Amino acid sequence: MVRIMPVDGPSDGEIRKILTKYRKIALVGASPKPERDSNQVMRYLLEKGYEVYPVNPHYDKILGKKCYPSVLDIPDDIEIVDLFVRPEFTMDYVEQAIEKGAKVVWFQFGTFSEEAFRKAREVGLIAVAHRCIKREHERLIG
Ligand code: COA
Repeated sequence: MVRIMPVDGPSDGEIRKILTKYRKIALVGASPKPERDSNQVMRYLLEKGYEVYPVNPHYDKILGKKCYPSVLDIPDDIEIVDLFVRPEFTMDYVEQAIEKGAKVVWFQFGTFSEEAFRKAREVGLIAVAHRCIKREHERLIG
């Protein structure tokens, strides 16, 4: 029997609510390289007025913002943890999201890990997968 992962939802209404209510985003796997999707998405979110905190241990600054080695190093509350790292790295960041008190973990395309996704949902976080935060913002809010 084929097992279907519960990656359904949130609904469009819930996504709209997430993107309206929550403004502080840790963007994990951020990159200064303009060809990286993470860079384009970070630029878009900044243009739309979100507080974006890049997370990548390899850099000090990205798009003019201080870059942090982990979510736990960010000296502010975080509401959304947006993942741009390979699936094998996502569990660490889900654990950091939980410890940080984030509300949402967002798995961008190509980052999905069933284990990490389940962990986020089990502890009551909103977990979004197989969607792009920029595309959803363009589609639902603009
Ligand atoms: N923690 C933080 N950052 C990390 C990391 C970790 N554990 N491991 C790697 N990184 C960083 C790297 O430094 C790299 O940035 P750099 O090139 O500036 O050094 C970046 O994450 C990606 O590294 P890599 O693992 O080599 O990526 P990849 O080429 O294998 O691609 C994804 C994997 C997940 C980044 C890629 O599939 C992707 O961008 N997915 C999202 C797609 C998407 O949703 N696009 C938006 C469409 S609107």
